Amino acid sequence: MRILVTGGTGFIGSHTAVALIENGHDVFIVDNLNNSRAEVVQSINKITGKAVIFSTIDCCDFTALDAFFMQHKLDAVIHFAALKAVGESVQKPLAYYKNNLLSLLNILELCQKHQVNNVVFSSSCTVYGEPDYLPIDEQARVKQPESPYGNTKKIAEEILRDTTAATQIKAISLRYFNPVGAHASALIGEYPMGRPNNLMPVITQTAIGKLNQLQVFGTDYETVDGSNVRDYIHVVDLAQAHVVAIERMLQGKSKAAYEVFNLGTGNGISVLEMIHAFEKYTGQKLNYILTHRRPGDVVQVWANTNYANDELGWKATRTLEDMVTDAWRWELALKQNSN
Ligand code: UFG
Repeated sequence: MRILVTGGTGFIGSHTAVALIENGHDVFIVDNLNNSRAEVVQSINKITGKAVIFSTIDCCDFTALDAFFMQHKLDAVIHFAALKAVGESVQKPLAYYKNNLLSLLNILELCQKHQVNNVVFSSSCTVYGEPDYLPIDEQARVKQPESPYGNTKKIAEEILRDTTAATQIKAISLRYFNPVGAHASALIGEYPMGRPNNLMPVITQTAIGKLNQLQVFGTDYETVDGSNVRDYIHVVDLAQAHVVAIERMLQGKSKAAYEVFNLGTGNGISVLEMIHAFEKYTGQKLNYILTHRRPGDVVQVWANTNYANDELGWKATRTLEDMVTDAWRWELALKQNSN
């Protein structure tokens, strides 16, 4: 099938492009390269031995996107393209609402116009806020998010629900927990522009010496060891879930016009546990300090994966060791390439 991957040079998008190609699909990427690099396309081609079609298009540019849809006769869209820095969204809410929502509206309008009736959307467990119970399942109440970024995900899900109710378009929202790791080839991975915010790139950049010190934000939470707990999932497992979701729609297996799935492992890992796992599996010593809480962090969250496991027939298989060793191999490859 012919699948448009918006944001396909980004972290999750690039791994999903590889997984789609490996499963026999033709991949078309559009990306504005706002937070990624065009060379990622070569890396995707190198891993897969296939050439993806790539165009530098901003999904907010309706006219350019319209021409792309017209030219390529697509069967489905996976919409990753979005701004994703939680803290920045608090400073620049209008930029986040405009970019993340206008791009989705454009995609949906063009899907309707060009009769592309299958859409997978990148959502986030951020829509659950501070969970009322754990592990959290898809039935849990969606809450008022802590940040404009989180709110764009919540509103986007509402737009998808309403649009799928009124049109031929079917959609699946995938609520990611915390994606980490990198492709085993170390040819693609997470490439944060500027200082990273997320834990794993901060860990690997501290280990390699790009950052001096890792701060552990909060050690007095009511958790296993006082630090926050998250459900980290290997990005290659996450990518494979997108292939399954797309094929579910293309094969007419969806149970409803709009469906939602959690993508996690079901395992909660604390910040300190992640640090210790990294040290154990890579042999690197991390320079870290225990410090104050980061505003807006939920205390702990991990997924109930039963619905995704049973209904999609998908399960994350990669271990914590895979996550940290692949992330580290990627950081080492970045260093080698910069020398
Ligand atoms: N952390 C540190 N030090 C750091 C960076 C992070 O202690 O330098 C901690 C955070 O306080 C948090 C945990 O590591 O407890 C994970 O933080 P991340 O920033 O990696 O991830 P978040 O869980 O905050 O955010 C992620 C995604 C968001 C998404 C959110 C949903 O980055 O896009 O999950 O919960 F909205």
